[in-house]
Amino acid sequence: MKSHLTLLLTLINLITPSHPLSFHSLPPLNNPSLSWITSPDSLSVHDSLTKTTTSLSYPSLPSLLSSPPTSRSLIQACLPPSLPSHNVLDLTFGFGSDSLILLSSSTPQKPVTVHGTERDPRVFALASEALARSPGLSSVLTLSLVDVLSCPTVDFVLGSEYTVVYIDVMFTSGKKNRAKAKGHMELLRTLHGTKVQTEEWKVNAEREAKELLMFGLRIARDRVVCKRPKGAPPVGGMKPSFVVGKKGANIRYDVYVT
Ligand SMILES: C[S@@+](CC[C@H](N)C(=O)[O-])C[C@H]1O[C@@H](n2cnc3c(N)ncnc32)[C@H](O)[C@@H]1O
Repeated sequence: MKSHLTLLLTLINLITPSHPLSFHSLPPLNNPSLSWITSPDSLSVHDSLTKTTTSLSYPSLPSLLSSPPTSRSLIQACLPPSLPSHNVLDLTFGFGSDSLILLSSSTPQKPVTVHGTERDPRVFALASEALARSPGLSSVLTLSLVDVLSCPTVDFVLGSEYTVVYIDVMFTSGKKNRAKAKGHMELLRTLHGTKVQTEEWKVNAEREAKELLMFGLRIARDRVVCKRPKGAPPVGGMKPSFVVGKKGANIRYDVYVT
C-alpha cells in the first residue's frame, strides 16, 4: 500500500514538472484550518476560517529594479552610501518584503545582494516557490531554511561577509503598505499563531531579538539594523548608534554601527 502511495506521489511530481518545489516536500501546515493548494503555476495556502487563499509572488529582477523605492527609511538605515556594495543578511526573512525593498535600490554602481534566513519551513516553502518563479531574482537573492540561534556556525555565515545584518521580529505592517501586505501579513500571523500577541509571545520575541542582535553584532562588517515599533524600547535595552525613521511613522530602524 505504502509503495503504491510513493509511486502515486512520484507520478504526480512527474506530471507537474513546472512546479519549482516538489509536491511531497511541502511541510505540514500545523493548523487544521489551513491547507496547501498546489497547481502547476502556483502554490497557495487556503484558510477555511477566513475563506481566503494566499499565494506569494515576486517581481522579475528587471521590474524590481525599475520600481520606485517604497521605504526610504529602511534603505537609509541599511545601505550607507559610503559603501561600494551591500551584502545584506536578513536573519528574519519572512515573506521578504523588506529584502525586496533593499534589492530594489540596487544599481550597477552600488549593487545590493541579500541572503535571507527563515526558520519556519512553511514560510520558507512559499518564499522559495516565489523566488524560483521570478525571472532573474535568484541572481541577487538566496535563501536558507535555518534558525541561526540554534545553528550559529552555519556555512553561509562563515562563507560570506555581510555589510549589514537586518532583524525584524515584528508582525505589523506600516499604514502605507497595509492594504497590499494585509493578506501576507495575516497569513504570517496565522502560521505563527500570533494573531493575538500575548505577553508571553512578546517576551519571547524580545528575548530572541536580543539574541539575534548579539549574533549580528559578531558578524556584520558595517552595521546591524533592528526594525522596531514606535515607542518600543531598543532591543535588550541596548542603545543604538543612531535611529532612522520618519516623524509620526509606526516603525523606526535602530542602527548599531559595528
Ligand atoms: C516579522 S517576520 C519578518 C517579516 C519580513 N521582514 C518581511 O519583510 O516580510 C519574522 C520572520 O522571522 C522568522 N524568524 C524569527 N526568528 C528567526 C530566527 N532565529 N531564525 C530564522 N528566522 C527567524 C519568523 O519565522 C518570521 O517568519
